[in-house]
Amino acid sequence: MVRTRTLYACSQCGATFPRWLGKCSECGGWNTLTEEVRPAKPREARRLSIARPPELLAEIGTDSAPMQPVGIEEFDRVTGGGLVAGSVILLSGEPGIGKSTLVLQVAEQIASRVGPVLYASGEESTGQIKRRAERVGVSGKGVALLATTELEDVIATTEQTRPALLIVDSVQTTASSQLDSAAGTVSQVRAVAQALAATVKPTNTVALLIGHVTKDGSLAGPKVLEHLGDTVLALESDSSRQYRLLRATKNRFGSTDEIGLFEMTSQGMLPVADPSHLFLSRDEDARVGSVVVSAVEGSRPLLFELQALVAPSGYSTPQRVARGLDGRRLAMLLAVAERRAGLKLGGHDVFVNVTGGLSIDEPAIDLGVMLALASSHLDVPVPGRTMVTGEIGLGGEIRPVSQLSRRLSEAAKLGFRSAIVPGTDRGPAEKSRSGLKSIPVNKVEDAIDWLRSA
Ligand SMILES: Nc1ncnc2c1ncn2[C@@H]1O[C@H](COP(=O)(O)OP(=O)(O)O)[C@@H](O)[C@H]1O
Ligand SMILES: [Mg+2]
Ligand SMILES: [Zn+2]
Repeated sequence: MVRTRTLYACSQCGATFPRWLGKCSECGGWNTLTEEVRPAKPREARRLSIARPPELLAEIGTDSAPMQPVGIEEFDRVTGGGLVAGSVILLSGEPGIGKSTLVLQVAEQIASRVGPVLYASGEESTGQIKRRAERVGVSGKGVALLATTELEDVIATTEQTRPALLIVDSVQTTASSQLDSAAGTVSQVRAVAQALAATVKPTNTVALLIGHVTKDGSLAGPKVLEHLGDTVLALESDSSRQYRLLRATKNRFGSTDEIGLFEMTSQGMLPVADPSHLFLSRDEDARVGSVVVSAVEGSRPLLFELQALVAPSGYSTPQRVARGLDGRRLAMLLAVAERRAGLKLGGHDVFVNVTGGLSIDEPAIDLGVMLALASSHLDVPVPGRTMVTGEIGLGGEIRPVSQLSRRLSEAAKLGFRSAIVPGTDRGPAEKSRSGLKSIPVNKVEDAIDWLRSA
């Protein structure tokens, strides 16, 4: 008799609990716990394992496989130069974002440059993949398709055909018949990724695993898999939904600073060579009360648009509404504006909004908030293609921000031309590296003077 035990696993972070909880105490997710039945640890496993002789350090070769460029520049930049044989790459993103399209394009490149590709899909039929290939102009030469949801199928075919690249689309629709739990559960997703990693290492195959991100947490997310991948990529959409941003959130072979930009078209994911046009509309009509700020999210600097509206109040107690940022922070900035910058906002309603429904909790946006307020109050537009970053102290002084050079290079990549930066920072030194013109400011008054004269 196989003994089993029931566990509750969080589909967001993979933590397991003996009892069901409404809120995951590891990651704080609500209703993310699902019941999973796992076979109790098999006893005989120990006896079956064959002892492997240890290797002598002096005799181990440094046969680290070289980077194999894919030939899609935006992809290669993010991965740090291409694919590394025997490595595991995880590509995550919401349904419909373009994961299957992108990997199909990668498959075509690898097939023509390196060797055969095996594309295992548990999501779509081979006919559906063929139609996509035709639409996006992928010949498919050297790409073998396998429509299956069974892990064991994928492993057997990989071992037989030893492809240069194995694509599994997706890790949540692939399941091992050895486990009782359903596809997409934490234990399945883990087992699938572990088995695939073990399969590709000895054959020097690159495994490219697609992982879904679902908002409701009904599927085990890529967080569960992060530690299993050598490289973890995320495909995201910009607010216009037309562009796709590819980022590395983890990369054993390169940095995680780079972003890749694609445009989603009927011909597939087209690399955006000149990202400046992403923000061009913002540039053409430099708007009153609108500022682009930088916030570091986890390890990634992102750019956001902040909007402020200042209007004479009809109430005895003016309204102060902050959406996407801390209300107390706004109150402090309003006091500084009044006392240090001569902005008389006491009788005005103030609304500040981070566009796109995002939340930022970082003092580095202070200066952006201040300039958005001043711009609205003075009715002076903030010049386009300018990124604003800086923390504000109670004395109205502009304080340095963390990771300035990464913020600047992100802005430069997105087509920005100049940046308002803390004067205390090494602004001029960073300027040459990022290619941005940096305008250092030491006090809130300096920044507002710049706004008036810009
Ligand atoms: N016939 C089509 N013409 C243009 N774009 C299409 C067509 N079919 C699908 N798309 C685009 O491709 C997207 C789906 O891409 P896909 O690679 O399948 O995403 P994912 O694998 O991440 O779910 C759709 O959201 C749509 O924008
Ligand atoms: Mg897909
Ligand atoms: Zn959790």
